[in-house]
Amino acid sequence: MFKAIVIAVCLVSARAAVTWSDCATKGSQTAVTVNAIDFRPNPVIFPGELHVDLDMAVTQSMDQLFVDVELWKNTTFGESKIPCIGDTNIGTCQNIDACSILPRIRNGSSIVSADMGLQIDKLLLTALGHEGNCPIQPENVTLHNEHITLQALPAELSLIATGDYRIVFKIKDDPASSDNIGCLEIRAGIRRKTDQVVGR
Ligand SMILES: *[C@@H]1O[C@H](CO)[C@@H](O)[C@H](O)[C@H]1NC(C)=O
Ligand SMILES: *[C@@H]1O[C@H](CO)[C@@H](O)[C@H](O)[C@H]1NC(C)=O
Ligand SMILES: *[C@@H]1O[C@H](CO)[C@@H](O)[C@H](O)[C@H]1NC(C)=O
Repeated sequence: MFKAIVIAVCLVSARAAVTWSDCATKGSQTAVTVNAIDFRPNPVIFPGELHVDLDMAVTQSMDQLFVDVELWKNTTFGESKIPCIGDTNIGTCQNIDACSILPRIRNGSSIVSADMGLQIDKLLLTALGHEGNCPIQPENVTLHNEHITLQALPAELSLIATGDYRIVFKIKDDPASSDNIGCLEIRAGIRRKTDQVVGR
């Protein structure tokens, strides 16, 4: 009986749509616009395969790219902000230097695996028709049902457990600016593959 309920819950949640919104604040100065984003499954399961659709436009060239991230977890008491976890650039972190992060991932000098770096490179090649590097030029970024192989979440990220999250990415061309030139808010769940076994 309990097993049947667990399976039913999994089936229902597997169909949950990814809700998102473009939260850019700078009007005509907006440089990055998201037209559509979707991924399956939602909740995202670690480890597992993630399928991604993306339709995004970069409308201005950018020499530098900084990202402020807010990560909120749904709790019974409302939303709780997950802090920036150590030097991982994961969690609620400010002024992430996006131009230097991909080289660090490729390099294996980030908590994100070098294998993920290779996958990101491949996605960028598919989306752009060339390698993704700074400076960034105006172009359309399109992905259709591309897949990413997610590894198990490392122990350092134990703060990011099973749950429902809201994540906000604010893109800036100047770290001192409080305004963004592109903004994306996504609501999605995260599960660990082992979660499904719990309680059987
Ligand atoms: C790659 O890693 C080495 C050693 O950790 C470091 O010295 C170098 O700056 C890194 N390169 C990049 C592009 O991050
Ligand atoms: C992106 O796509 C739009 C609509 O198809 C097009 O008008 C625009 O020129 C494209 N932008 C770039 C930089 O290719
Ligand atoms: C989190 O809670 C809000 C209401 O507080 C709800 O609208 C939202 O759908 C929840 N997020 C997820 C991913 O379930």
